Amino acid sequence: MLRLAGASLRRQIVLLSILASSTALLLACAAFVVFEVITFRAAMVQSLATHAQVIAANTKAPVLFQDARAANETLSALRAEPAIMYVELLLPDGRPFARYLRSDLVAPPERASLPAGVLHRFERNALVLTHDVVSDGVTIARLYLQSDLRQQQARIRRYLTITGFILVVSLVAGFAMSARLQRRISEPILGLVAAARTVSDQKDFSVRASTLAAGEVGLLGKTFNEMLATLQSQDADLRRAVAARDEFLSIASHELKTPLTPLQLQVQKLQLTARRHGDDPLAQKIASGLDVMDRQVVRLTTLVNTLLDISRITSQQLRLEPEEMDLSALVREVVTRSAQELRRAGCELHLSADTPAMGFWDRSRLDQVITNLLSNAIKYGAGKPIEISVVGRDDRVQLGVRDHGIGIAQQDQDRIFGRFERAVSLNSYGGLGLGLWIVRQIVEASGGTISVESQPGQGALFTVDLPRRATGGPS
Ligand SMILES: Nc1ncnc2c1ncn2[C@@H]1O[C@H](COP(=O)(O)OP(=O)(O)OP(=O)(O)O)[C@@H](O)[C@H]1O
Ligand SMILES: [Mg+2]
Repeated sequence: MLRLAGASLRRQIVLLSILASSTALLLACAAFVVFEVITFRAAMVQSLATHAQVIAANTKAPVLFQDARAANETLSALRAEPAIMYVELLLPDGRPFARYLRSDLVAPPERASLPAGVLHRFERNALVLTHDVVSDGVTIARLYLQSDLRQQQARIRRYLTITGFILVVSLVAGFAMSARLQRRISEPILGLVAAARTVSDQKDFSVRASTLAAGEVGLLGKTFNEMLATLQSQDADLRRAVAARDEFLSIASHELKTPLTPLQLQVQKLQLTARRHGDDPLAQKIASGLDVMDRQVVRLTTLVNTLLDISRITSQQLRLEPEEMDLSALVREVVTRSAQELRRAGCELHLSADTPAMGFWDRSRLDQVITNLLSNAIKYGAGKPIEISVVGRDDRVQLGVRDHGIGIAQQDQDRIFGRFERAVSLNSYGGLGLGLWIVRQIVEASGGTISVESQPGQGALFTVDLPRRATGGPS
C-alpha cells in the first residue's frame, strides 16, 4: 500500500495522480483485452464452422459410396489450416470412417463429448466443433473437429505486452506531467504554509501569502491574508495599549514616589518629638499612631517601587550596577531589618550565613530578591520557623529560603514566577503577584536561576543559584 499520510504535499499530489491515471489505464486495457478475446473467439468459431461446412459438402459422396480413401484425401486438405489439430468423420453408428491428424501430433487428442444440441465448445486448450453430414435430409455421418488455441494465446500475449508497454510509457509521461502540474496546486499551499510558519515563529503579521492561484486555493490565500491583516492591526492596537499602559505606570510611579520621601521624613521627625515627651499619655498615643503611619508609608513605598520596577523591566530598562559584595552580609542585614515583621508574624528565623560569600552583584537588586523571598516566607508561613542559608561553591553561590507554611501545588510551581500570577486567593493573602516575577528578572539578569521545591501544606524552599560574576544575560 502507498503510504501517503506522512508524505509531502508535492509527493501526495504526484502519487495520487499517477495512481488515478494508472488505474483508469489498467481498466481500459483490461476491457480492451476482454473485448478482443470475445471477438477473436467468435471469429474462430465462425472460421472452423466454415471449414466444417466445406468438408461436409466434399465428404458427402465418399460416405454415400463408402469410399474411405476419397474421404481421407478430402480431410487431408486441412493441412493448409495449421490451427486444426484433428478431424474425424464418424458414421451414424459411431464407427470412424475417415480422419485427419496434424503432422506434428503422434496420437489423436482425447475426443470431447459435446452434450446434445451443443455444436461447439471451448475446452482448456482447444475449440471443439461438430457438424452433421446430411444427404436428402438424412444424417449420413458426423464431423468432429478440434482446433488449438495457440493463435489466441499468442494474440493475448501480444496484447499484454503492448498493454504493459503503454502502461510504462504513460506512467513515465504521467509522472513527468504531474510533477510539473502539481506546482500549480502545491506551490500556493506551500506558500501559505511558509507564511503561517513565519507568523507563528516570528510573530510577524506583515507577511502575506500569494493570491495568484485560481479557485479555492486562491480564495484560501486571500482569506488567510485578510485574517493576517486583522491580526496585524489588532497586534498594533495591543502594542500601543501596552506602551500607553507602561508609560502611564512609569509616570504614575514616579509621581507617587515624589511625595513619599518627605512624608516619611516628617513622620520620623514627629516620632522623635513624641518620644521626647514619652511620659505624656497623649504623646504615647501619638507615637504609636505614628508607628502605624510609618509602617504604612514603608509599605506604600514598597508598592510604588514595585510599580516602578515593572515599568522598568517591561521597557527593558532594568540596569544592574554590580559591585564586589558579600551576600551573607546582605542577608544578615535584610534579616535584621525584617526582625519586627518576623516577630509580628511569630516566625522564628534560623540563619546559616556566617561565612562570607563574595561576588560581583547589584547590591540593591539582591536586597530586593532576599526581601521578597523572606516576605513571602513570612506571609505564607506565618507562625512557623524560617531557615535561610547561603552556601558558596567554587564560582557559584546558593541562597536558600525555606518556610513551613501553606506550600505550593505542583501545577502552580512554574507559573508563580510569571507576572501577576498568584496561587492563593486575594481574600486570604494580599499581594500583586509581582514579587517572584521581579525576583526572577533580577536573578536571570545576574546570570543565575531560581527554583522552588514544595508540597502543599509542607512549606516551600526557594533556591537562588548565582554565578559569582555574571557572564551574560539581559541587563
Ligand atoms: N513561600 C511561599 N509559600 C507558598 N506560596 C508562595 C510562596 N511564595 C510565593 N507563593 C505563591 O506564589 C505567588 C506569587 O508570589 P509573588 O511573591 O510573586 O506574589 P504575591 O506574594 O502574591 O504578591 P507580591 O507582588 O506582593 O509579592 C503567591 O501569590 C503565592 O501563591
Ligand atoms: Mg510576594
